[in-house]
Amino acid sequence: MKTKIDKCKKLVREDNKVISPAARVPYYPLAVKRAYGSIVEDLDGNKYIDLLASAAALNTGHCHKKVVKAITEQVQDFIHYTPAYMYHEPLVQLAKELKAITPGDFNKRVAFGLSGSDANDGMIKLARAYTGRSKIISCIQAYHGSTYGALSLTALSLNMRRKIGPLVPEIHHIPYPDCYRCVFGQQEATCNQECLNQLKIAFQYYLPAEEVAAVIIEPIAGDAGLVVPPQKWIKELYNICKENGILFVSEEVQQGFGRTGKWFGIENFGVVPDAVILGKSIASGMPLSAIVAKEEIMQAWEAPAHLFTTGGNPVSCRAALATIDVIREENLLEHSKELGEYVKERFEEMKDKYELIGDVRGIGLSIGVDLVTDRKTKKKAKEAAAKICYRCWEKGVILTFFANSVLRIQPPLVITKQEMDKAIDIIEEAINDYLAGDIPDEILEVAKGW
Ligand SMILES: Cc1ncc(COP(=O)(O)O)c(C=O)c1O
Repeated sequence: MKTKIDKCKKLVREDNKVISPAARVPYYPLAVKRAYGSIVEDLDGNKYIDLLASAAALNTGHCHKKVVKAITEQVQDFIHYTPAYMYHEPLVQLAKELKAITPGDFNKRVAFGLSGSDANDGMIKLARAYTGRSKIISCIQAYHGSTYGALSLTALSLNMRRKIGPLVPEIHHIPYPDCYRCVFGQQEATCNQECLNQLKIAFQYYLPAEEVAAVIIEPIAGDAGLVVPPQKWIKELYNICKENGILFVSEEVQQGFGRTGKWFGIENFGVVPDAVILGKSIASGMPLSAIVAKEEIMQAWEAPAHLFTTGGNPVSCRAALATIDVIREENLLEHSKELGEYVKERFEEMKDKYELIGDVRGIGLSIGVDLVTDRKTKKKAKEAAAKICYRCWEKGVILTFFANSVLRIQPPLVITKQEMDKAIDIIEEAINDYLAGDIPDEILEVAKGW
């Protein structure tokens, strides 16, 4: 257990006085001093195995040598010149690479930004411009970001939407297929896709399909608690889009760049989207986002419909090029797939031992461990999740939870089996501490999560 966190606590006290509370989801007082690979060191010198990878934004791990080298070289040449007015090589090189690695054997173009949120906003604009239609469909429980467009796609938390309306109009939400807690009470094996019937009903009574520009979905619903949809849901949704001239967009901000053992999450489902939305891990922690869409779609909006002064920054582009190299050279797609399967097995074994674990799900190193107070009712065990995460931090593992009850296992893809085993052992110890009543209630004041 940790002996010293004085410097961290001091910084957190100062932070609490100057930073907007709206920008935080607190878990524990960890102030980062340095980080490398899968290890994070705090201001007091404590070390942690990172199972969060800065919210899935560091698939190549912290400070990968190649990424640091690329960034260092670029800042010595020039830090930025806006691509809105002038041109630079890293931008063009990266666009070529993104065209090559994203799904779809057709010509594509790329629009760059700075965050997953702005890329979602851009996609709304682009889909409207291309189709001449106004309506967009996304999913209940999805998180797409904090800017107005992305937030309007988001349907995850009332606090995110309270007091700030009106939001972007004409965005409609359908249920995501959460087969573990099906809101329609169905079982996956025998299900008639009631969740998709909701869309068909909407098309029948109030939402003209010919006015819908795009369906924007995550291939795994990340912040909903890493909910993996059945293949048949994705395929049927895709077919509905194709039958009605609706763009099918895969939002890969969290699941992209090797997280699921493929370059992009949607590749696990056998459909080819019209466009993908990229962010987070694209540049190993440097601010960058991108929309990659079919050429004809990208031709539909006119200059200057979508540009940002610091978007497509060359330092971020160089970091992204190095990120792609690292994923290739270190076989991180295979590693994510293989280690992910092993990690799931380990949690499945734990599920046999602990009633607290209701469900283990995910693809590659995007794994959710859903905690329940009762396996029959599947009531979310939020208190257990908070206490277990807090105890893991005390024992040297960065673990968080979302969707109230789901332990979020999204480490850097460079994590070794040994590091992963050690982290899982510590999670098991924390579960035992929780079950023994050894984790005090006071920590619930700190570990709020979401
Ligand atoms: C799926 C998904 N989309 C979009 C975003 C927003 O990205 P950003 O925080 O870079 O704006 C996130 C961030 O958590 C996300 O998980």
